[in-house]
Amino acid sequence: MEVAILNHSLKRILLTIACCLILLSIVNSEEDYYELLGVERDATNKEIRRAFKKLALEQHPDKNQDDPDAHSKFVTINKAYEVLKDEELRKKYDLYGEEGLKDDFHGGGRYESWSYYNQEFGIYDEDPEIITLNRAEFEQTVRQSDDIWFINFYSPRCSHCHDLAPAWREVGRELVNVIRIGAVNCQEDWILCRHQGINRYPSLILYSGSTTRPERYTDEKTTKKMVKFALKQVTASVTDLWAANFDMAIHNTETADLPWVITFCSSGLDCLSDTSQKKLAAMLDRLVNIGGVDCDVSDAICERLDVESGTRFYKPGQVQKGKGQPLGSLDAQEAAIEILKLMPDVITLDNDSFEKMREGLRKGEEQSWLLHFMVGNDVDLELRKLPALLEDMNIGRINCSNSRELCRNLHIRHYPSIAVFKSKGGHEIHHGQDDCP
Ligand SMILES: *[C@@H]1O[C@H](CO)[C@@H](O)[C@H](O)[C@H]1NC(C)=O
Ligand SMILES: *[C@@H]1O[C@H](CO)[C@@H](O)[C@H](O)[C@H]1NC(C)=O
Repeated sequence: MEVAILNHSLKRILLTIACCLILLSIVNSEEDYYELLGVERDATNKEIRRAFKKLALEQHPDKNQDDPDAHSKFVTINKAYEVLKDEELRKKYDLYGEEGLKDDFHGGGRYESWSYYNQEFGIYDEDPEIITLNRAEFEQTVRQSDDIWFINFYSPRCSHCHDLAPAWREVGRELVNVIRIGAVNCQEDWILCRHQGINRYPSLILYSGSTTRPERYTDEKTTKKMVKFALKQVTASVTDLWAANFDMAIHNTETADLPWVITFCSSGLDCLSDTSQKKLAAMLDRLVNIGGVDCDVSDAICERLDVESGTRFYKPGQVQKGKGQPLGSLDAQEAAIEILKLMPDVITLDNDSFEKMREGLRKGEEQSWLLHFMVGNDVDLELRKLPALLEDMNIGRINCSNSRELCRNLHIRHYPSIAVFKSKGGHEIHHGQDDCP
């Protein structure tokens, strides 16, 4: 069975995998573009941009005025970058080498000043929370998905865009895993920006799924207001608990098999803010029920659970006195980490259990497996979300520090890597970091 029926999250993961899959390539060129830039053949666009920026800063003719060949050397590098940054050209190059570009590409001869590369090129590439999108990535990950994206269309030439950058980074950090935060450099991708009707910079646009009209943000560009605007689109909900609905809510058969995280607020005492609760609801959508009790109003509930204030985690079916695990943080991102640590971990496979799994898959007795290959203590808490989201798939981890031979045999070269092992054989490996959208 191929992985055919994909639910939403799996689709996203597989898109990620597909976008980062090693492109098989036959290239006999003298000057290999990947080697020129010093990147692997499966490099992501971001890796390519970062490698190019580094070279540009070192080898730019502005900085090498004694070298008569500086211009022509830099044109070669620039050309490699112009080709590899474009999905279509890169594909052609991967298949046919420079020969394949003859008809489509004559660029690369023009480049920017050194200070442009230094100050204005790839301004969000060092921010893991912000995903820089090119046209192909935009089509795949924004237009064809139901995720909420808040995207900053900027031009490196505009000073307001630079002024906005610190606040935009802050929005990215506050909303990690809540919604997706993107950036498009309109100088690099002017066709995309024209299609999106961008007529001034910066333009901030919120996309919430392929069937909803994008919405422009026009208010003041403070972190707080931008975050509030984005959170309005989040549909995951927080349940207000009070005397009349409490029992019904916690015994609701649809959500009874999920844990509860309940915030208890009493005047003068700390509890999670509404905004933090909303962020948690989005981050842990379909994994955890998020609820809040106002103990000044519904004191009977707080007495019954014997909690006066703060936040508690209850395992499924155990919203009872004395069963809640207190959470310390009032910050949504930190609270989410605390909660994930309280959720069950995924299975770790060793050589033997891996062999058994392969055997089961060959015989068609097991459903597919998604495996996370890591070393040391690099456990990814996000993995704990997957069993609930990917019901048709097993999720596991392989600790390559222990199972060295196994990882070597599978040619796992980068950590962490994710691989999907399909029923009836076959597997796909996704090398790379989280930055491939
Ligand atoms: C992975 O194996 C190494 C070496 O035995 C060990 O130190 C590390 O704690 C293991 N990691 C996990 C998450 O178990
Ligand atoms: C598991 O270990 C055995 C013996 O050490 C080895 O022959 C086999 O190739 C290993 N399996 C994998 C998948 O690496």
